[in-house]
Amino acid sequence: MNFASDNVMGASAPVLDAVVRANAGALPAYGADEITKRVERRLAEIFERDAAVFLVSTGTAANALALATLTPPWGLCLSHEEAHVIEDEFGAPEFYASGAKLAGLPGVGAKLAAGTVADYLERLKQGRRFMPPHALSIAQATECGLVYAPGEIAALAEVCRRHGLKLHMDGARFANGLVAAGCSPAELTWKAGVDILSFGGTKNGCLAAEAVIVFERGLADTLGYRVKRGGHVLSKSRLIAAQLEGYLAEDHWLESARHANRMAARLGAGLTEVPGVRLAWPVEANEVFPILPRALDRTLKAAGAVYHTWSDRSLPAGERVGPDEVLVRLVTSFATEEGAVDRLLLAAGRGGSRAAAE
Ligand SMILES: Cc1ncc(COP(=O)(O)O)c(C=O)c1O
Repeated sequence: MNFASDNVMGASAPVLDAVVRANAGALPAYGADEITKRVERRLAEIFERDAAVFLVSTGTAANALALATLTPPWGLCLSHEEAHVIEDEFGAPEFYASGAKLAGLPGVGAKLAAGTVADYLERLKQGRRFMPPHALSIAQATECGLVYAPGEIAALAEVCRRHGLKLHMDGARFANGLVAAGCSPAELTWKAGVDILSFGGTKNGCLAAEAVIVFERGLADTLGYRVKRGGHVLSKSRLIAAQLEGYLAEDHWLESARHANRMAARLGAGLTEVPGVRLAWPVEANEVFPILPRALDRTLKAAGAVYHTWSDRSLPAGERVGPDEVLVRLVTSFATEEGAVDRLLLAAGRGGSRAAAE
């Protein structure tokens, strides 16, 4: 019953098989191999765009390199105040961008509304001195498991366009967001105005594989130099590429994300049947955020459930976590078993028994 993160599981079988297949023999190093080239072409095909692709091995590197490409040292990059790039990357984007500043904006469920960004940018303009804003970074899905629809992204992109900002998407959970949004990868990114995407693979079944996908070709050279300078040109690129090849083949990445999202929906629905439990935000992708009575939290932990407590800063208006309650995050993944979901629900009480008896 480990729901601490989608990183707690290993890699999926198709990904591992692809790595084993790619392991034999000698191939050119540093990305000049055929497997890397194939993955670059495959991603361009999936996104219906002649995009530039850079393979890296962590999501933090993908984000930091992308944001450094969009933001000069004297520039400002906007994001949600609880975004991973602001709260969890220990200054990596600022470090890679030689000191650029990240500014955090509010929004329910860690989601940014176009109006919030527009107001902030207008206020900046009216200030006497300000760091020029260069980029906006949004997370798909958000830190609270919400999914941006193409129209919401397009509205943010329009604000960016008006103010001369580039738009970055942190897609550590891109596949989960995509299957939830029910549109094409292109519609969820460049067609809606995204300039650069950090395309996650690791959380959804790779060992350590992410891709920075640059839709605006003009940015590719700068990013390429930054990837090299930042120590992220991998000599055995074929083994990172092989992970993504196995990941993308036969819609494995989409099936894995659908499974994770289904497990989260089952968990969320079951938990809401438990007396005293409510969800802080709706379950839209593969994360569930229940507000639990403290006694139930203790019961679940004693039963062996593993999960993290979570921030209550972007709760909807009027919602609050009471003194005898705790807000927690449960994450499901490609490898979450239905049995584990049902055992947790059973341990949680009545709603669980009902779900398990289905
Ligand atoms: C939204 C988001 N972005 C980026 C990352 C970074 O990934 P990594 O841990 O591979 O650096 C994470 C990881 O938890 C994440 O949740």
